[in-house]
Amino acid sequence: MPKVFITRQIPEAGPKLLREAGFEVEISDFDGVLAREVLLEKIKGADAVLSLLTDKMDAAAFEAAGAQLKIVANYAVGYDNIDVKAAGEKNIIVTNTPGVLTESVAEHAVALMLAIMHRVPESDKFMREGEFIGWAPMLFLGNDLAGKTEGLVGLGRIGARVAEILKNGFGAYIIYADVKQNEFLEKEFNMEYKLIDDLLKEADVISLHVPMNKETNHLISVDRLKMMKKNAYLINTSRGPVIDEISLVDALKSGLIKGAALDVFEGEPKTSPGLAELPNVVMTPHTASATEETRGAMSELAAKNIIEVLSGRPPLNQVKA
Ligand code: GLV
Ligand code: GLV
Repeated sequence: MPKVFITRQIPEAGPKLLREAGFEVEISDFDGVLAREVLLEKIKGADAVLSLLTDKMDAAAFEAAGAQLKIVANYAVGYDNIDVKAAGEKNIIVTNTPGVLTESVAEHAVALMLAIMHRVPESDKFMREGEFIGWAPMLFLGNDLAGKTEGLVGLGRIGARVAEILKNGFGAYIIYADVKQNEFLEKEFNMEYKLIDDLLKEADVISLHVPMNKETNHLISVDRLKMMKKNAYLINTSRGPVIDEISLVDALKSGLIKGAALDVFEGEPKTSPGLAELPNVVMTPHTASATEETRGAMSELAAKNIIEVLSGRPPLNQVKA
């Protein structure tokens, strides 16, 4: 019976499919990220590993698993935790879970925009601390999302859905930067294609939707933070290292930009010194895809990829180096 190892408890939909398909399914019962040596031990003999973005799956892990390993199915759309090239050299298929989390991540990005611009968490804290003594004309002035220039960095599925929400819901003027131009979506949402540096100079709200790779590491560098408008808000639901976080703390402190709302962090789960003390920051703990609907669908999709591959069929969502 083919063996599937799941590195941590996930919604039951996926494991159920795997058991029904006749596989032996082992789910790690430790509610945390498996220590490296435990992970390497646990995956030994597995035909499939259902991994999380917190599990490093590299050449040494594939070696430890053994030659029977056929697929690593990542429970995430991002797969920067997996050495896809090393997997390919061993004929191990790597899959991700695109599509099913587009809606929740896009909604979360917009939620973060509204939260920072309408100062929702700051105001909530103020209420809970009993500071509200009466309506006041200048209390917690924020900014409207409507009427702003929205700069999207990355126009994949998630970026495109954010564009749609901003266009239809807020009548936003949208500019975008990406490795490739998308004339179809440009027409659809009346957007303009820009070089990233021009986008950063013009946008009032900048939202990051790029994958993590060598080119996007510190894409938002200190020099680029300096290009942004003083009233700009920076939103990140992609990967922490896309922003030079230490420089971001300085930029927020010195008023180089107005605010930031972040779901991901450079040294996750840690945040850079000073970040959590800043009033002009909203943070969520890498939960942009964490809705009941989406996490259930991700569990199913990761399982389906495993079922296809272990049944000798092509996977639904293969990623390549
Ligand atoms: C979450 O960060 C994902 O890549 O799915
Ligand atoms: C992820 O689904 C993306 O392409 O943005």
